[in-house]
Amino acid sequence: MSYKASFRVWRGDETGGELQDFKVEVNEGEVVLDIIHRLQATQASDLAVRWNCKAGKCGSCSAEVNGKPRLMCMTRMSTFTEDEVITVTPMRTFPVIRDLVTDVSFNYTKAREIPSFTPPPDLKPGEYRMQQVDVERSQEFRKCIECFLCQNTCHVVRDHEENKESFAGPRYLMRIAELEMHPLDVADRRDAAQEEHGLGYCNITKCCSEVCPEGIHITDNALIPMKERVADRKYDPIVWLGNKLFRR
Ligand code: SF4
Ligand code: F3S
Ligand code: FES
Repeated sequence: MSYKASFRVWRGDETGGELQDFKVEVNEGEVVLDIIHRLQATQASDLAVRWNCKAGKCGSCSAEVNGKPRLMCMTRMSTFTEDEVITVTPMRTFPVIRDLVTDVSFNYTKAREIPSFTPPPDLKPGEYRMQQVDVERSQEFRKCIECFLCQNTCHVVRDHEENKESFAGPRYLMRIAELEMHPLDVADRRDAAQEEHGLGYCNITKCCSEVCPEGIHITDNALIPMKERVADRKYDPIVWLGNKLFRR
C-alpha cells in the first residue's frame, strides 16, 4: 500500500538555506532514507545526502527527523501517521556543507587528540592474558558506529560553539573511559580527561545516551565511572599527599 507523504527538507549550504516542501510516494516497509532517495530520483536530483550501508552500521546517514537526531536508514516511515509532515534537517551542531550533509571533522580532530592505547613499554606479546571481565567492560563501547548523533545532541556544544575547543564530547570521553578501564593501559587518562578533554563540562543529562542508535549506555557506563575515577584520585589522601610532596 502506498501513499503520498509530506516532506519538508532543508536545502542550502554554508551561506544559508530554507525548508522546501515535497510530496513523495511512500511504500510499505520503507524508511526515511528511502524517501530521501526517491526525492533525489524524481524531484531534486541535486539533493545532497550522505549514506553508505542502509543497515544502521556505517553511521553516515545521521540527520534530524522532526527535530530528533536519528539515523535516516533506521527510521521507519510506519512510525509516522500518513498525514504527518516530516521535517528532515542536517545535524545542527556541525557546519553544513550542503543540504543534509554536514562537516563532521570536529569529531576527527577530537579523536586525534586522545593518545592511543599505551601498554607498559617492557610488555612482550604473549606475556599477558586478559580476563573475560576486562574484555566485557569495554566491549559495549566498541559497538560505536561513529554516527556522531551523541556529539550532535550534547548541549555542551550544541548550543555553545565556544565550548568545542575544550570539550571532546560524549563519544570521545567514552573512548578515554574505555582506555582507562583497560588493565594494560598505563597512560594518565584521568587528569587528561578532566583538564584537556573537558569531562567537567558534562553534567550527566544523558541526552547522548538517549539518541545512541547502538543503545550504548554512554553516561552510566562510561562518563559517570570516569567522573568517579577522577574524583577518587582527587580525594584519595595518598594521591593528595603525593601531589603535595612531588608536584610543587
Ligand atoms: Fe553514535 Fe552511539 Fe557512537 Fe555516539 S556512541 S557516535 S551515538 S554510535
Ligand atoms: Fe552531554 Fe551526555 Fe554529558 S549529553 S552533558 S555528554 S551526559
Ligand atoms: Fe549506514 Fe544509515 S546508511 S547507518
